[in-house]
Amino acid sequence: MGIGEIDGWSAAPLDSAGDGFRLAQLVTKEVRKHGRHLLGDQLLETLAEIQHRRGNRDPFLHAFLDAILARHQDRFRNQTYLALPLLDQVLADPRSGLDPERLSALLIADIVAHESQPSSAGRTDPETRRKRITHAKRLLTALGSADITDLPLPPRTAAGAWLPLTVLPVSLVHDEYFFIRALQTHELVFRTLTADVQAATHALRAGQVDAATAALLRADKVFQRAAMLFRIVATMRADQFHDFRQFTEGASAIQSESYKRFEVCCGEPKPSRIRSEAFTNVPAVQAGAHRQDNVARAFLDLHRQGRIDDSAGTRLRFAIDQLEASHQRWKITHYRLAARMLGNAHGSGYTAGVPYLEQCLRNRLFTTAAGT
Ligand code: HEM
Repeated sequence: MGIGEIDGWSAAPLDSAGDGFRLAQLVTKEVRKHGRHLLGDQLLETLAEIQHRRGNRDPFLHAFLDAILARHQDRFRNQTYLALPLLDQVLADPRSGLDPERLSALLIADIVAHESQPSSAGRTDPETRRKRITHAKRLLTALGSADITDLPLPPRTAAGAWLPLTVLPVSLVHDEYFFIRALQTHELVFRTLTADVQAATHALRAGQVDAATAALLRADKVFQRAAMLFRIVATMRADQFHDFRQFTEGASAIQSESYKRFEVCCGEPKPSRIRSEAFTNVPAVQAGAHRQDNVARAFLDLHRQGRIDDSAGTRLRFAIDQLEASHQRWKITHYRLAARMLGNAHGSGYTAGVPYLEQCLRNRLFTTAAGT
């Protein structure tokens, strides 16, 4: 198989039909056999050559190779670890008809399917896997998959076929597979949250306070899914985590743009936070943070203009408080999980680790609104 066929691919003329999907399947097979970080230099060089020659002719293959070659090319980060550009290609395909919610359901269903395979148990005991499957099925129900005996499957489209190729573990540790799917789902959850919070700001700018309140309450419900994700991740043992963490150095959710976009759409973070590693790790969000309209500012403006009556204002404040409290709970759960998994070790995003997260507990989302 494999390497020989990949070599042949590199020699193929540029204008040949070049089945990028077939190539990616072959590479994925190698990844699942050895782990992404134990792929041989010769293979990586060949793939880099293919990437260079073909450019962005096939956006799926391009995004796939972007992930595979990230460490080799010294740009391994959260988004290449999680193959987010490839996931985005699948999400953007109009024929597949996916949105962040439906894609999340597919990723969680994949966790259930993976954990249900008897052959891939590794060192994870049956009780842990049962618990993991139970939590994943609860999240599936929350995502609207009523019939969880029939797990949702990827759409039967060319883009849908790439979905199984979006898990590219760095190791052979069983638990890394579900961990990647959980973090990918987290990215999608925060995109949904951002859309809801932006809808609230637009509604406030249009003077539609009750519509804004409804959007924030919707966001608060979505937040419960983020909490459910932690329950799934919490089934992992610290020693299993450390088995693959040694290869994930440099990739951290501190680089997650979707989390920080959610944050700046709620209120304007303090200047000290904007200057800190929380935002230097997401330069695109950092650069636009001051220009970004947000719920807190829109609420304050409406209040100053006397365009908000008491009862609508009270309902809006309630929704804001709910979301703030859910986010605080989310941070506390994350902090505790990290403390159990990491102890005194630094974070893979090069912060001090648990002390950094403890400091983050003091931050609030809706700082401007609190003053109204
Ligand atoms: C084994 C589990 C986990 C550990 C040990 C862990 C640890 C950490 C650490 C130490 C940081 C600080 C940045 C760094 O130096 O890397 C961080 C940041 C972050 N983590 Fe996790 N994490 C875990 C799981 C998760 C999960 C499952 C999610 C999402 C559902 C998540 C979301 C985030 C986010 C959004 C940040 C950025 C926080 C900020 O900058 O304010 N983490 N994590």
